[in-house]
Amino acid sequence: MSVVQEYDLFSSDFFAEPEPILNDMRLSNPVYWCRRLESWVLTRYQDISHTIRDINFCVDRNGQISRGGSQFTRDKLNFCNGFFASWMVFSDPPRHTFLRSIASQVFTHQKMESYKHCIEHLTSELIQNLRAKRQIELIQDFAIPLPTLVTAKMFDIPLAHVTELKDWSSGIFTLLGAENASDEEINLTYHNLVKCIKYFQDLVDKHLNSKTNSLIYQLANTSESGYKLSREEVATLCIVMMAGAYETTTHLIANGMLALLQNPAQLSKLKDNPPLIDSAVEELLRYCGPAFSVVRRAKSDTQINGQNIQAGQKIYCLLHAGNHDPERFHQPSQLDISRQDNRHLGLGLGIHFCLGAVLTRLETRIAIHSLIQNFPNMYLNSSKLDWIPNFAMRGLKNLPIALS
Ligand code: HEM
Repeated sequence: MSVVQEYDLFSSDFFAEPEPILNDMRLSNPVYWCRRLESWVLTRYQDISHTIRDINFCVDRNGQISRGGSQFTRDKLNFCNGFFASWMVFSDPPRHTFLRSIASQVFTHQKMESYKHCIEHLTSELIQNLRAKRQIELIQDFAIPLPTLVTAKMFDIPLAHVTELKDWSSGIFTLLGAENASDEEINLTYHNLVKCIKYFQDLVDKHLNSKTNSLIYQLANTSESGYKLSREEVATLCIVMMAGAYETTTHLIANGMLALLQNPAQLSKLKDNPPLIDSAVEELLRYCGPAFSVVRRAKSDTQINGQNIQAGQKIYCLLHAGNHDPERFHQPSQLDISRQDNRHLGLGLGIHFCLGAVLTRLETRIAIHSLIQNFPNMYLNSSKLDWIPNFAMRGLKNLPIALS
């Protein structure tokens, strides 16, 4: 009888360097049953790109998006799960089609591109503040403020509220990515969520009363097949966009700068050839993108790569593993900022493809370009890096950098 190998997908060693285990899984157990996650785990590019687009798999998780806690926090966890379930990213057609259509009419490519000057201006202010320092912690000093300030501009949020909103959003992500949340995490997220929902519902009321042609006003007044979003749905969409924008872009900037600092030849190539920034950002999304996994559920009994999957079972699609699959990418463990054949999974694929893709690419290009041009001699100022133990998001707790 063959013994099924057990992989430790939860240790700090795994989060620090997941590739050795992921490479082994891809070769020996590409469709792996993880008892702790009570889910299948996919590591091959082909299986992942098929599963996240196939209509036989859904994103609805039957009210079980976050798990954990004791009986004392059951009601609060149910509240959080109920709220998450209303998000576009956890909704299937036809509900998803409706929400996505309204959002896409407002968050157009052109609209996102129109934030270019604003992003350049905010980046240059942040860089100015860094100039006085010799040592920085890139995440707190730059990678968190930039996306939070851009989102504040987008939704006309007063600067005084930005820190609080960031704390709420971090709390939400902690629960979303926790494989077994503690009572403390559930309590914190619940209280943050209640405040966050109230904050955005009040903001929506304010915009509806003022009748200015703001983004929020447009969201409330755009229709699809004769239907508009309710006040509560507009507030929820703003929270989704805020959470989507805050955590991910922060970690793409930080993971990306780390990857460049660890690959000095690629960093100098980019410094000497600024137009390579577009392909460099795509390569960073592949090589060290922050979206570590997305989850699907089988709608009926089916198979993936010859493995039987039962109706209702969950499937973790490890985007990071797919992005490092040698069957799909030439020398995937090498960072190559001029890589051409690079249809990576870092922003998803199919109907749930990232709605903020244009914005996040724009922000990351401007951020990384400005950092390396303004601080050409910067270097990594720590030999030990701590990674966040989160299955949804790959990111560092901090990134100390010396500027010269
Ligand atoms: C580096 C930055 C980002 C990464 C890596 C990222 C990654 C992703 C991924 C992988 C998905 C697909 C989820 C799935 O298939 O289940 C997604 C969806 C989504 N993202 Fe992003 N994202 C980023 C930035 C943003 C930003 C800046 C926004 C908002 C301004 C945003 C808003 C969304 C929304 C609303 C969805 C759901 C789309 C849908 O369900 O139709 N994201 N993102």
